[in-house]
Amino acid sequence: MAYSTLLFEVRDAVAIVTINRPDKLNALNGTVIAELGDVAARFRNERDIGGAILTGAGPKAFVAGADIGEIAAQGPVDGKERSLEGQRVFRALERCGKPVIAAVNGFALGGGCELAMACHLRVASEAARFGQPEVKLGIGPGYGGTVRLPRLVGRGRALELLLTGQMIDAQEAYRIGLVNRVVPGDRLLAESESLLRTILENGPLAVRACLEAVDAGLDTGVDEALLLEANLFGLLSGTADMREGTAAFGEKRKAAFRGE
Ligand code: COA
Repeated sequence: MAYSTLLFEVRDAVAIVTINRPDKLNALNGTVIAELGDVAARFRNERDIGGAILTGAGPKAFVAGADIGEIAAQGPVDGKERSLEGQRVFRALERCGKPVIAAVNGFALGGGCELAMACHLRVASEAARFGQPEVKLGIGPGYGGTVRLPRLVGRGRALELLLTGQMIDAQEAYRIGLVNRVVPGDRLLAESESLLRTILENGPLAVRACLEAVDAGLDTGVDEALLLEANLFGLLSGTADMREGTAAFGEKRKAAFRGE
């Protein structure tokens, strides 16, 4: 698929996806959502992709939200469909089985904040701004904001952001746990890539199991979550990667994982 709203490249196992509508602050219209859906499938299916970085084009925005022009024209039925489709695509990114990092280079508002939250980790530039301003438009979040924000930062802080619609800066986002790191803007992509490559040095099946255990485990009871962890622990014990990782430790060398 050739993309009209995304730039896509794979560099040595790292996919770098840039949402590329800088004149509209990278707002998520239907085309961007559809193309992100294709990207999520590629992350899952392509063996030469080990992990991914999502970022926004231009100096101002990661993503300034869903496209307000499209929202203004929608009715209840297509509004629900727009929400369901965005949720499906973001969930596919979250469940792609490989680590995805949002490199937040500017405004991450509404659907942009929701997209960043659907990524596994968030690295913010000092200029990044976060918020869920939908209530200011008389609508609510539609791409998972009411679901992921309280899980990331807690109910009280999530409700403050959701109810006021106010923006917070990168340091405040870091303080409340919305982002993992804050870095100077000119270091954003390098630091995001370095974090991702640190993860990619580890056993890919083990990394995938962590993603799966946390994703499923957070939403079930403690006993079920512990059982899932034990099952994954057992499953990983049958992999060549586990033999290689433990052998490499004994032999004081770096492990050469093959994802098998
Ligand atoms: N949807 C569609 N277009 C958007 C957009 C969005 N979510 N956010 C910004 N744009 C467009 C603007 O309409 C403008 O287009 P124009 O030049 O054709 O008029 C362009 O992007 C630049 O935005 P502008 O508002 O001029 O930049 P700014 O620096 O003055 O303000 C923001 C930046 C992010 C504060 C402001 O654009 C904003 O509040 N955007 C909407 C955020 C939002 O409510 N998101 C949730 C949507 S559900």
